[in-house]
Amino acid sequence: MSASPAEAQGRRQAPAMDLDALIADPATRIVVCCGAGGVGKTTTSAALALAAAEAGRSVVVLTIDPARRLAQSLGLVELDNEPRRVDVPGIDGELHAMMLDMKRTFDDVVTAHSTPERAQQILDNPFYQALSSSFAGTQEYMAMEKLGQLRASDQWDLIIVDTPPSRSALDFLDAPNRMGRFLDGTMIRLLTAPSRTGFKFASAGFLFFSRIISKILGGQLLRDISAFVAALDTMFGGFRERATATFELLRRPGTWFVVVAAPEPDALREASYFVDRLSAEGMPLAGLVLNRTHPPATTALSATRAEGAAEEVAESGGETAALTAAALRVHAERMQQAAREQHLADRFTSAHPEVAVRTVPAAAGDVHDVDGLRGMAEALTGADDDTPTGTPRTRVLPARRG
Ligand SMILES: Nc1ncnc2c1ncn2[C@@H]1O[C@H](COP(=O)(O)OP(=O)(O)OP(=O)(O)O)[C@@H](O)[C@H]1O
Ligand SMILES: [Mg+2]
Repeated sequence: MSASPAEAQGRRQAPAMDLDALIADPATRIVVCCGAGGVGKTTTSAALALAAAEAGRSVVVLTIDPARRLAQSLGLVELDNEPRRVDVPGIDGELHAMMLDMKRTFDDVVTAHSTPERAQQILDNPFYQALSSSFAGTQEYMAMEKLGQLRASDQWDLIIVDTPPSRSALDFLDAPNRMGRFLDGTMIRLLTAPSRTGFKFASAGFLFFSRIISKILGGQLLRDISAFVAALDTMFGGFRERATATFELLRRPGTWFVVVAAPEPDALREASYFVDRLSAEGMPLAGLVLNRTHPPATTALSATRAEGAAEEVAESGGETAALTAAALRVHAERMQQAAREQHLADRFTSAHPEVAVRTVPAAAGDVHDVDGLRGMAEALTGADDDTPTGTPRTRVLPARRG
């Protein structure tokens, strides 16, 4: 293939992302959608799951906090923590969807790994109740736990995983470690040492430390923590092993990550960190979905020419002239916005030239029903150059000619 004009100028072109082939490939077993908060992870996950089911696969999508209307259209009216079949007429495969119930998942792990009596002790412990519903990272950890369960049940040939609305996309990958560190943490060990090792650490130093802690946290809470951790003690290994095993699952062939970002500096910075981290972890990246872009209706008329034409038309006077001038100005603005978005995408690509890119235009309204998901699925999986303006789906605007 000959170099494109942009390449000739030394500007790199992002490789095209073939999500269509990826989700249809029987070797693909897990797709994880990651990205900064609010960029479209949940919607992308649901749209990819629909596309995969349409391609004949039996797929389950694990969504996290889906918007209410999206949940409703997937038939997820209540949190039941188990996948439900979504009735989509005319698809070859099967689509199942579930919403993660973080607390239920945590409770299930506790119940599955301890005696009924001990499980009850843990479940009743106020510290456990706080931890299971609000500890930073619990949601990420439980999403991973649920993924492990779904994979182990081997009921679906593809699992698509949405990730929690964290500030940082990295939180998902950090969760198992953080949780492990917490459960294994020095403070917890110190706090529980007296009950576990017969006051081995009950030195003057420790007593002083524990008095301070109980002053800050309150004696009851300290007792709760000690009781909780003592009860969890038998499960330490269980938790850590499971987290490690699921983490390893993410490294196995057949798992792919899709990083979602909005065409905004912060989201793309997050995406950049995430891409670096994946490569450091040896985890395979399918590419970057640049979601909610604003490609213009036509690229034949530049912003400058549209502005100029708007002025000329406006000067000619009359009612239609005003309308035409307004339309031209809208086009000029849209071209400028698209240029800004393309500039951000180019910056990402010059930092990560190997990362495939797919742009997904902003739909007119929210994507909350099956039709909306179909539109998004088409944008995600359609042929790279099959667009009304001919601009490849890798880009917001065509590459500038040299
Ligand atoms: N291409 C699109 N066009 C129009 N609206 C979109 C598009 N993608 C996502 N949205 C809308 O943007 C909102 C946020 O999307 P979504 O919930 O998928 O983001 P998220 O990354 O999962 O957010 P969170 O981090 O809070 O979980 C939703 O209302 C969704 O309908
Ligand atoms: Mg979400």
